[in-house]
Amino acid sequence: MKESELIALALQAREKAYTPYSHFKVGAALLTKSGNVYTGCNIENAAYTPSNCAERTAFFKAVSEGEREFAAIAIVGGAENATELGYCAPCGVCRQVMMEFCDYDSFQVILAAKENEYQVYTLREILPMGFGPKNLQA
Ligand code: THU
Repeated sequence: MKESELIALALQAREKAYTPYSHFKVGAALLTKSGNVYTGCNIENAAYTPSNCAERTAFFKAVSEGEREFAAIAIVGGAENATELGYCAPCGVCRQVMMEFCDYDSFQVILAAKENEYQVYTLREILPMGFGPKNLQA
């Protein structure tokens, strides 16, 4: 799948964001190695801490459907009244969730402003010295 197609799905997912508190809407589209896509949006809560980021929504949807192998994630985000989007970097908690399931050097984190305007990072680049499942092996 082309980057632009994954970004288009993330932009669609962003429309579903439930953000009555921050008014900051994020969408994500997570591509599995087998070619399936799971989308997610951020979902906030009146008690604040139960809020979930778009990226983790996508990961948890995918893992709960049996997926464990991921190739890339496209992320789009910005204020709900923004006319143009900037790049929305994933929070530390979402990076840690990526660390659990994704290859450090091949998983692609696509930060997009538009379908044809994006930057691609590896997980290693956005989470140096990450702690993951391999650290727990004897
Ligand atoms: N948020 C995401 O969903 N993903 C990110 O990459 C950054 C932040 C959400 C959390 C909260 O609902 C809102 O954006 C403002 O922080």
